[in-house]
Amino acid sequence: MTPAETAIDQTAPGAMSHDEYYAIAEAVLPGGGLGGYSLPEDVRFVIHKGEAGRLQDVRGKWHIDYVGGAGALILGHAFPSVVEAVRDAAPDGLHFFGTLNERAVQLAKELVEAIPCAEKIAYTTTGSEATFYAMRIARAFTGRSKILKCEGGYHGNHDYSNFSVSPRAASNFPAGQPDTAGMPANMGENVLISPYNDLDAVRQIVKANKDDLAAVIVEPAQRIIFPKDGYLEGLRDICTENGVLLIFDEVVTGFRLGYGGAQAYFGVTPDLASYGKIVGGGGPVGCVGGPAEIMEQCNPVNRGKANYAYINGTLHGNPIGCAAGLATLEELRTPGFYDRLHGRAAEIQSRCQEVLDAHKLPAMAIGRGSLWQIVFMDKEPENFGDFIQADMASTRELDLHQMRNGLYVLPAVRRFVSSVHSDQDFEDTVKALDAACSAMK
Ligand SMILES: Cc1ncc(COP(=O)(O)O)c(C=O)c1O
Repeated sequence: MTPAETAIDQTAPGAMSHDEYYAIAEAVLPGGGLGGYSLPEDVRFVIHKGEAGRLQDVRGKWHIDYVGGAGALILGHAFPSVVEAVRDAAPDGLHFFGTLNERAVQLAKELVEAIPCAEKIAYTTTGSEATFYAMRIARAFTGRSKILKCEGGYHGNHDYSNFSVSPRAASNFPAGQPDTAGMPANMGENVLISPYNDLDAVRQIVKANKDDLAAVIVEPAQRIIFPKDGYLEGLRDICTENGVLLIFDEVVTGFRLGYGGAQAYFGVTPDLASYGKIVGGGGPVGCVGGPAEIMEQCNPVNRGKANYAYINGTLHGNPIGCAAGLATLEELRTPGFYDRLHGRAAEIQSRCQEVLDAHKLPAMAIGRGSLWQIVFMDKEPENFGDFIQADMASTRELDLHQMRNGLYVLPAVRRFVSSVHSDQDFEDTVKALDAACSAMK
């Protein structure tokens, strides 16, 4: 029995068995999954429910969850005040459209108060939509078409994002490589690529393209790679000097690194910023925010005018998502919340490093704040080029062994620590990693 299984109820709680669910899923879902990941049969599972830092599958097994709803669940699963807010909201109506609802106005006020660059926000349903609209607003505002993004940077599932997220060939900057089939052949003409953490490269590309360049978009901390001192400030200066907008994609960093996001944490203010995940507390809420002058592009009174940027969506301002977001933000405002979260995350990160060292595995627990990952490499990466030098096969294998020993992580993907991961979760995490390291030999 694995460490995470010892303290659990083994009665299968699922309405159907694991095998029955997978038989259906394989018949009706491509790859038998929800997209994105295809897990080996011996580690995959069907979630029955989530509770704080753990998930229970339909067979009754508990998993310590470091996927955290892809980072949306900074308070873990079913946090009491968030559940209560959703319970309060649901009887009032699950969804409205076309005019304001109370909770959407309340959340917008909190977001504008918290996000340094935002005098106004426009709602979206997802983080992908938030980056898509940030790019659209930037194009409408500047009258230019091109967007510069970083190699290895992910901004969602739309066509402008899916260039050089994980390029297969060596990069020929600023040309991008499509990551997916199905995009128009000329899409790449409007997407330029730079290495992350390299101001000289950005400066050169921006100068050479400034007449066509609407914006530079960047994850302030790209995946698990943090900005070098002065990088974000340098981007800010280059964009200002060349009249190009700077967009921070805060879909992950927003309200995770600190209240308000990376722009508050690092003290660098972009022109526009995109949020998702935490702002909806696990519900369908994202937003793009910026100064009133720029956000005026999407004011619907301008509909029909040449420079109006259309933003609209069925679920925008969804009251259930806004209720979850409001309750989440309230908790995040508790004095000391982030110091405690970062302290807890540093604790489990360093305990995992001790286990790796004790097994003499050439792997590092890299990352900062509450986002980190175990990677087989010997120095902190500065960009995607460094990152792919890592031994990804071993990185994946170790993660799969940890899954077999009771952790829910995705192979070779970064982890999120939540504020409710308990001492017991950490004890069991260390034991799971220890067993996984032994299995690697
Ligand atoms: C930095 C970043 N931007 C955008 C997105 C897209 O967000 P969503 O999956 O909500 O569309 C993600 C998703 O993980 C992300 O990590």
